[in-house]
Amino acid sequence: MEKFSSSIHFDKKLFDADIRVNKEWALSLAEIGVYTHEEAERVATTLRQIQVDYHAGKLSFAKSDEDIHSANERWLTERLGDVGAKIHTGRSRNDQVVTDLRIYLREKGAEFEQALLDLQSAFLDLAEKNVTTVLPGQTHLRQAQPISLAHYLLSFFYQMQRDRKRHEQTVSRLNKCPLGSGAIAGAAFAIDRHDLAKRLGFDAPLENSYDATADRDFVNDVHHVCAQVMLHLSRLAEDFIIWSSEPFRYLEIDELYATGSSMMPQKKNPDSLELLRGKTARVIGNHVAGLTLMKGIPTAYVRDLQEDKEPLFDSVEQTLQSVRITTGVVKTIRINDERMLASLDPALYATDLADYLVRKGIPFRKSHAIVGKIVAMAEARKVSLTELSLDDYQLNSGLFEADLYELFDPVKSLERRNLYGGTGPASVRKQIKNAKELLNIG
Ligand code: ARG
Repeated sequence: MEKFSSSIHFDKKLFDADIRVNKEWALSLAEIGVYTHEEAERVATTLRQIQVDYHAGKLSFAKSDEDIHSANERWLTERLGDVGAKIHTGRSRNDQVVTDLRIYLREKGAEFEQALLDLQSAFLDLAEKNVTTVLPGQTHLRQAQPISLAHYLLSFFYQMQRDRKRHEQTVSRLNKCPLGSGAIAGAAFAIDRHDLAKRLGFDAPLENSYDATADRDFVNDVHHVCAQVMLHLSRLAEDFIIWSSEPFRYLEIDELYATGSSMMPQKKNPDSLELLRGKTARVIGNHVAGLTLMKGIPTAYVRDLQEDKEPLFDSVEQTLQSVRITTGVVKTIRINDERMLASLDPALYATDLADYLVRKGIPFRKSHAIVGKIVAMAEARKVSLTELSLDDYQLNSGLFEADLYELFDPVKSLERRNLYGGTGPASVRKQIKNAKELLNIG
């Protein structure tokens, strides 16, 4: 049972947060007279020593240490006797563990925020270099319309922007302090929870002690943030895997992020991207675990809740790593703009041909049908749209004139789409300007 119930192998990640929580709790206890101020000072000094010794590898866990909270209390009591044994006054591990966890998430959150910013900058840098690089834009994995490569890259900038905001909101929502809630009812000592919360870096104490120890919605909020980031990265990974494959070769992944095969010497496999996709499955699974954990338990602390941490730590760490790896991939990727240009199928301008007729007064539905016939004609003759003669075009509509061939220019096609949010170069430059403002590097 000891082994079964122990959580120390994972909740030791909360060590530093737990030390900090103990220090401030001791101060709160001094304010209500459980400790003298001199004793609270000794507790603080001893906790600092424990922290140094722990990180120097000088302390080891005992079989009886169920979790990191019990271990810290044991070390303190071993060094201070009764002064150590008083630390748990008015407190439960129920409020302690969620206080630690919220601090941990807040601190990891700062790293996560920076990692997302770095990834956004990487997208932005690459976009700036590729405003007029033309990518055969796809829908349904089939060529659809020419787009600026920068436009594609900036779509990820904006996805990450929403992810970053979602994360910021999550952290600001979770940054309230449970400590002082005890097991469910609140401590039977007049702790100033507002002051305590402030000293621990929280915005405020949680308003209700029952809620404070019962709920884990903040855990699932973080899961959602991680899962959503991973979904975005996973689709980017899929695009890059396809576009770096032999039939496409639009991009080349740097050797740093690819691996060879142990058997086939010619291989350069996109393992980094495949792992991003694979880890996404894991992070989504963790989110499902977090939700399922909560669904049928009574509303108060139950031991089931100990199981919230392993999947959470895993998702936070895997997602952070994944964002950093993606940044590396984006920073080092090589763009083969000639391949992209060469693989543009003239059929991509079918929409532009239909729009040409629209500009001459034909209703779009009709122009769509006319161009459909022209595409069928080209297909039947096994030629491209550029190879059809003006007579062929005029056979389908007398409104076609020789200038129709100018439509098949990729940059001009982009330039027709300079409306707000479009793929035209002027529009894309505006997006870049806006993106810089969002990163405060305008
Ligand atoms: N380690 C536990 C957790 O993570 C906290 C311990 C609370 N234990 C208890 N029997 N009330 O949830």
